[in-house]
Amino acid sequence: MSKINSETLKYFADVIERETGIIYVEENYFQLEDRVLQLCRNASIEDPSELALTLHDPSQARLRRTFIDIATNNETSFFRDPGIFQVIKNTVLPLLVERGGAKLSFWSAAGSTGQEVYSLIMAIEESGLVPLSSMSVHMTDISERVLERAQQGIYTQLEVSRGLSPERLSRFFDPSPFVSGEYRIKEHIRRLVSFSRLNFLESFADMGQFDLVLCRNVLIYLALQTMLCVA
Ligand SMILES: C[S@@+](CC[C@H](N)C(=O)[O-])C[C@H]1O[C@@H](n2cnc3c(N)ncnc32)[C@H](O)[C@@H]1O
Repeated sequence: MSKINSETLKYFADVIERETGIIYVEENYFQLEDRVLQLCRNASIEDPSELALTLHDPSQARLRRTFIDIATNNETSFFRDPGIFQVIKNTVLPLLVERGGAKLSFWSAAGSTGQEVYSLIMAIEESGLVPLSSMSVHMTDISERVLERAQQGIYTQLEVSRGLSPERLSRFFDPSPFVSGEYRIKEHIRRLVSFSRLNFLESFADMGQFDLVLCRNVLIYLALQTMLCVA
């Protein structure tokens, strides 16, 4: 039985679509409801309709961002779709190197908690084709929560077990200095990446140009017009 009425849920879904392009279809309102209720608990808001009103308040920009944040699906893993990283290593990088240029630049757009951008750097390092000092790497996401995690580069046992071989784990990670059983991507890799928040609905004209952009598993959540604009 739903705790939030469907009109209020539709209101929340509309705000999310307007601000991010992410579509919540009615079948997924149960997921939206869970997330809204969680946010209300964290923000000590008793009634979700009160949250709806608070979101209008210009002085509540932080809460609004948190609300947008909870709407995102951040599923990711290391070397997700491994074939793509093989193609990057064996085909794309040799072409980029052959084309020449002072520095290669890479962008992981909507990179979630960082597994994608770090997989890319591991693949490049393994290829031996591009010295790490000859590349720049940027990662963006709409969610500040995932950006912070990506920047820390610390992963649980479960997260490293998803896609990382033991060889890669020992070559590219150190045990976390903070929590036993967790791992941190090595500092020389972490330091290569710059991070910023970017919503695809806003202009990214000033991002500059890149030799390779990874933008994966995100357009599927967006409305068709948004997909076409981003693509
Ligand atoms: C499912 S994850 C995909 C992560 C990674 N690219 C991968 O393939 O493993 C989708 C990411 O897109 C981000 N996202 C959703 N809507 C966005 C938007 N409008 N602008 C930028 N990023 C967005 C989410 O915060 C989330 O971290």
